[in-house]
Amino acid sequence: MKLFDEIKIGSMTLKNRVVLAPMGTTTDHTNGFNMRDVNFYGERARGGAGLILTGAVVSSTEFEPSPCQKLTNVKDVYMLHMVAERVHCYGAKFGIQLSPGIGRMNWIDPHTPPYSSSPCPNYYKPDLICREMPTDGVKRLVKSMGESAKLAKDAGVDIIEIHAYGGYLIDQFNSAKWNHRTDEYGGSLENRMRFMMEIVDAVRDACGKDYPIAVKMTLDSIDDEERPLEEGLAIAKALADSGKIDMIHFGRGAYSCRWRMVSSVYQPVGFDLDAAAKVRDVIGNLPLMAHGKLNHADVAEEALQNGIVDLVAIGHGMIADPHWANKVKKGRLDEINPCIGCGECHFNAMKGRARPCAVNPLCMHENEYELTPAQEKKRVLVIGAGPGGMKAAISAAQRGFEVTLWEKNQRMGGIMAAAGAPRFKADVKDQVAYLIRQVKKNAIDLQLGKEATLESVQAFDPDFVVVASGADPVMIPIPGADKPNVSTAVPVLLKEKEVGQRIVVVGGGEVGCELSSELRLQGKDVTMVELLDDILRTADHFVANDQNIRYLVEHSGTAILCSTKLTEILDDGVIVERDGAKEKIACDSVVFAAGFRADHSLYQAIKSAGIECVQVGDNVKPGKVIDAIHQAYHYIRVLE
Ligand SMILES: Cc1cc2nc3c(=O)[nH]c(=O)nc-3n(C[C@H](O)[C@H](O)[C@H](O)COP(=O)(O)OP(=O)(O)OC[C@H]3O[C@@H](n4cnc5c(N)ncnc54)[C@H](O)[C@@H]3O)c2cc1C
Ligand SMILES: Cc1cc2nc3c(=O)[nH]c(=O)nc-3n(C[C@H](O)[C@H](O)[C@H](O)COP(=O)(O)O)c2cc1C
Ligand code: SF4
Repeated sequence: MKLFDEIKIGSMTLKNRVVLAPMGTTTDHTNGFNMRDVNFYGERARGGAGLILTGAVVSSTEFEPSPCQKLTNVKDVYMLHMVAERVHCYGAKFGIQLSPGIGRMNWIDPHTPPYSSSPCPNYYKPDLICREMPTDGVKRLVKSMGESAKLAKDAGVDIIEIHAYGGYLIDQFNSAKWNHRTDEYGGSLENRMRFMMEIVDAVRDACGKDYPIAVKMTLDSIDDEERPLEEGLAIAKALADSGKIDMIHFGRGAYSCRWRMVSSVYQPVGFDLDAAAKVRDVIGNLPLMAHGKLNHADVAEEALQNGIVDLVAIGHGMIADPHWANKVKKGRLDEINPCIGCGECHFNAMKGRARPCAVNPLCMHENEYELTPAQEKKRVLVIGAGPGGMKAAISAAQRGFEVTLWEKNQRMGGIMAAAGAPRFKADVKDQVAYLIRQVKKNAIDLQLGKEATLESVQAFDPDFVVVASGADPVMIPIPGADKPNVSTAVPVLLKEKEVGQRIVVVGGGEVGCELSSELRLQGKDVTMVELLDDILRTADHFVANDQNIRYLVEHSGTAILCSTKLTEILDDGVIVERDGAKEKIACDSVVFAAGFRADHSLYQAIKSAGIECVQVGDNVKPGKVIDAIHQAYHYIRVLE
């Protein structure tokens, strides 16, 4: 496979074309790298990637508090060197993404405006107008980038990727929309790009003529006027024509359409590849790297074979499975743990936590949370084959316990099967299939069609029980709720319950929005009724997913009625109350997407019977896959 062919980036030879995409994170109080980073990056190198890139690392904290890691001082070299050393052990090269800052995207406090290329609204608080970076400040930032690059080289870093993308500080200078300066850093494209080009020169001067330099840039912002395609192509061409850099890494999007920058669950595989061809046209043979759900090896390989790109950067895919590259190389595709696109890694990193992964509890705990062989061969009974139950059963079997898994349905997956049913949620479907494969592969006594009751559990007489029996859908108790034309979201998504042509979906949360969008794609007429004043008010998820599902449902043709209360269901429609008036909406079917409620009675009964027992996932509290999988894994991991 071309994926595993060597490639030269300037003077550096990579053993293959698989790159860990830059993924920044807030860090501990030192704002530097630490042992978690050594282990995180080291594991991805061990997993076979040819190049490991860190997320953005700032070269200066003069103008903004560090939003991520920093490299401003010789003291920062110590841990960075540890990362480099670990990565090198596996024959991978190590690069850092170096940044002078994030400008208008920074958040200092509600009253202190960050610096940008020119006065412009702060992203998070638009009435806070950013200060123009003084000219001497621009020059100091350029110098700091050279100084940091030298520190990086001293730490053993093999390549610097300059962070000139995503609408961050360098990109604010590059952009005609944000840059209105009158000094040598504003005006023409050449002047606007001066900051970036001087940075390239500073890095080159600091690290030498043979040192590899890449630039990550944004081609266009698609749904936003921030970056017109012509501007992006002109930047790419100017970078290539300059002859000063060794690789372009490009992306698309803007903060207003974040899912185009940082893939959401709804984005299709290889979503930036069409655009890569446009970049290729203007940059000639300069090595080009793309990202965007390229963790589907066939798609990545085809893009390499066609010459559209030279390297593939994989972000989420290698958070979820650090050994992606080695598994692909060995043809063990079925063993790849697929990312479900939930965005919890980014969502939590933005909150200041070490980035977790919903499907990989070892992420950022690479050397801490491994499973160890069981000391005593306990009989473990798991109730429910949703993600929580399957993860508990798999982990328990891997530890060597004697495991039985009861599932009342004839299928596995729980409500996660419905979560992965819409055509735009294949990532989730892939994870369900992976968990099912793992259940079958491990020594688990799987019993489908077996419903747990206190009596059956007592008769089974287990040593330890994991109750992973999920939650029940909420039906609003209104007149007509028991009519045959009424259903809940899960059976409709799973096509276990037929619906008519005209459908009212009750609830405009994540489930209601996904269901409505999918039903529209099936050609149904859909009206979504939401009590609150906007859709997605109850959703607690990463902004890329939030913006993307909003975009999908708003462009789907669903009639969205907010501040609207469902009061009655009829045979041929529903009665709703809006602005104090009642009205009838004609429909054939009504589908509730009004949330879930946990029933703890089975767990309480088993516990009261004196059997050692834990509860995981939605049965604790309706939540997300990350809750179910992590709780299940950790209960089993620490079981003695
Ligand atoms: C439409 C939809 C979309 C979603 N999308 C996402 C998403 O994109 N990302 C995300 O993170 N989360 C999503 N969720 C939430 C996620 O699916 C749940 O949080 C997760 O499935 C909970 O897992 P669980 O194992 O705890 O329970 P469940 O998945 O509900 O599984 C419980 C299982 O237990 C079985 N069971 C129940 N009682 C018994 C019994 N007495 N004996 C034997 N078996 C029993 C059930 O049949 C079921 O198979 C979505 C949910 C829905 C409905
Ligand atoms: C947690 C997280 C942090 C990220 N931080 C950065 C960053 O610091 N710099 C950057 O250029 N891109 C960053 N990205 C974007 C990724 O590099 C990549 O472009 C994007 O995730 C799309 O690739 P994927 O579909 O393989 O995940 C981040 C992505 C994630 C998930
Ligand atoms: S947290 Fe979710 S989105 Fe992030 S890598 Fe893991 S599965 Fe993918």
